[in-house]
Amino acid sequence: MTVPINVVGISGSLRRGSYNSALLRAAGELMPDGASLEILDLAPIPMYNGDLDGPTKPESVIRFRERLASADALIIASPEYNYSIPGVLKNALDWASRGSDSPLTGKPVAIMGASPGMMGTVRMQMHLRQVLMSNNMFPLNKPEVYIGQAQTKFDEQGRLTDEKSRALLRTQMLMLTAWTRQLQEPVAA
Ligand code: FNR
Repeated sequence: MTVPINVVGISGSLRRGSYNSALLRAAGELMPDGASLEILDLAPIPMYNGDLDGPTKPESVIRFRERLASADALIIASPEYNYSIPGVLKNALDWASRGSDSPLTGKPVAIMGASPGMMGTVRMQMHLRQVLMSNNMFPLNKPEVYIGQAQTKFDEQGRLTDEKSRALLRTQMLMLTAWTRQLQEPVAA
């Protein structure tokens, strides 16, 4: 029997009608058998302040770190802001990165993004990969998921309706699950 894979997902956009949060929900629908997605909300996480950091941390940060720690893999869906990573997302990753018990270390991660523009968050994703590297995370390299012209690919209810995008997302979820299982295999002596 295959061991279930528990994935958590975060969106770099807090707005209600976010394409990126909608993309994350679509990823949840397209998970292969044996894998599930829980979406975490970044809204309660305060701005990073070293004075609040230490053995005790804000309650929302502790909960966020615990959920990350208990997950087998992470999905990040995010907009591109000014060619880079939105502050909301970077801030959450900064909180999660602190200490030798960082729940980011060694975690497999899939990246995706949606934008009304043509580029579909390419530049944000390149910057994000650098941040993930700093935390010794294991991003899935392929397939890359850039959803450009998002306004043509989601319906009014925020459902991803574009079949090509759904197929790409399904493949990415399949590859993330396989990548996670591969990383969990014990290293031969
Ligand atoms: C943007 N947007 C944007 N889009 C893009 O493709 N490249 C960019 O550099 C930027 N920069 C940017 C900066 C700021 C401050 C905002 C608010 C927006 C547009 C962005 O892609 C668009 O608002 C998306 O709809 C945001 O994603 P959500 O909220 O729909 O998930």
